[in-house]
Amino acid sequence: MAEYVTPRALELSEIPGIISEYTHGARCAQLAGFDGVEIHNANGYLLDQFLRDGTNHRTDQYGGSVENRARLTLEVTQAVVDVWGADRVGIRFSPGGVFNDMRDSDPLETFGYVLRQLSPLKLAYAHVTQVTAQDIAHGATEGIGPRELRSSYHGNIVSAGGFTLESGNTALQEGWADAIAFGVPFLANPDLPERFRQGAALNTPDPSTFYASGPGGYTDYPTLSA
Ligand SMILES: Cc1cc2nc3c(=O)[nH]c(=O)nc-3n(C[C@H](O)[C@H](O)[C@H](O)COP(=O)(O)O)c2cc1C
Repeated sequence: MAEYVTPRALELSEIPGIISEYTHGARCAQLAGFDGVEIHNANGYLLDQFLRDGTNHRTDQYGGSVENRARLTLEVTQAVVDVWGADRVGIRFSPGGVFNDMRDSDPLETFGYVLRQLSPLKLAYAHVTQVTAQDIAHGATEGIGPRELRSSYHGNIVSAGGFTLESGNTALQEGWADAIAFGVPFLANPDLPERFRQGAALNTPDPSTFYASGPGGYTDYPTLSA
């Protein structure tokens, strides 16, 4: 981790260039042989900074109302869909997350609006994270997540955030997620699906190797057969 530069608001004239960069990234992913792309609109990345009113203080057509704050997300999504087709594009949101000083005064309204606007595009999925213990350590209190936003999105919802095999299956059964993504459990268990199938014990993750450089913590957790 390095110190950040002090951010500045983008000039209006720079925004078409930003959208072009997403198009370029989408094309590069195709050339690289990917199966699809996920637009990162979570955890304080650029689109999240536009979407939430804690960071977006603009007074032009990209700031103020939720319609304006969601504009860049919707323009970028259309640009990426134009490259890939909607069924190969997902998008990730963290409505309750507070990483990178992210805040919103009305997350249900903000994220409900953008999900309702995205619904007709028929993307592969919308990924809506749950608030985790890590989020709470970073200052999140209670947050909204896929349970509260389910009714705003007519398509597949993927969720991640502190799920276990059991709580993931409960979410699927209760109908507020269509698939569960695993972060830390997959990091520590390269054969996670097989362990789930067998009901096997999981390796204990080592947080000291998270975000570290080098292979330690990335390629050295044992598989069941190792
Ligand atoms: C080492 C590490 C790096 C991560 N990097 C990112 C990231 O760059 N962008 C992001 O949105 N989430 C990132 N995450 C969060 C995960 O995508 C996931 O949402 C989070 O770990 C919660 O799911 P889990 O409880 O299954 O791990 C990272 C998590 C870890 C542990």
